[in-house]
Amino acid sequence: MELTPEQVKQFDRDGFLLFPNLFSGEEVDILRQETDRISQIRSEMVVREGETEAVKIMFRLHETDGETASPAFRAAAHTPRILRAAQQCLHDDDVYMHHSKLNMKAAIEGSAWMWHQDFHAWHLDGIAEPNMATMTVVLTEATPLNGCMYVLPGSHREGRSDPRRDESTAYKLWVAKTPDMKEYMKKYPEPVPIVGGAGTAALFHCNLLHASGHNLSAEDRWQIFFCFNQCKNRPANVENPRPDYVRSRNWTPLTVSAEDGIVTAGRELAA
Ligand code: SIN
Ligand code: MN
Repeated sequence: MELTPEQVKQFDRDGFLLFPNLFSGEEVDILRQETDRISQIRSEMVVREGETEAVKIMFRLHETDGETASPAFRAAAHTPRILRAAQQCLHDDDVYMHHSKLNMKAAIEGSAWMWHQDFHAWHLDGIAEPNMATMTVVLTEATPLNGCMYVLPGSHREGRSDPRRDESTAYKLWVAKTPDMKEYMKKYPEPVPIVGGAGTAALFHCNLLHASGHNLSAEDRWQIFFCFNQCKNRPANVENPRPDYVRSRNWTPLTVSAEDGIVTAGRELAA
């Protein structure tokens, strides 16, 4: 897949692109089997929450080594649909993955993500330029009831806001302050929900404000996130760097594979 020049312009203008049904049912099935497998692992890379210790986040699925490594998610990250789109929107063919994560947002218990910009944490990781983008793919249908993600169109142009630390969920993060967020909501168009059947995807800029609500439904909302950075924008050394699973030290440029990578990986996993 190659984005059109209009799509790249749209990304620059709105800070995101939507791709309904980007991945097939067969591909989604393979990725869902891998999600099931990895969610059984006890590791610091698998963050749990709530009464049933449901998985909230699983990190580092894209590498070849480590407890949470998944050949199928690694293959997904290298497909043109994901990697080529990221290269085009970052206007650079030399990109690496800052991290990958899968948010499982469990039925009933899965908690909200307050409005935030990803780049604040990444800047603290030592990254200078806000020229990063995330491709996310929903692996179960995403709806307002199950806590789909929302993006605030054009808000990446705001630059980095002055956030506050939110410790109300099992994963602490930097979020937009409430008075600021009220102003942004007046200033920018209505938030856009990332809804759709499994396989639907979105690519969004690292300064785009986004959020999602609690999962009030009886079904999990599974969603993978691949966060890309330009190799030349790799982090500078910082004191007490975060672990490799959130601040990767693998700065080798990624190479685009064939589109059928997930299906091939699925066959190998089944063999
Ligand atoms: C995130 O912004 O990192 C997660 C959002 C979500 O899973 O809805
Ligand atoms: Mn985020």
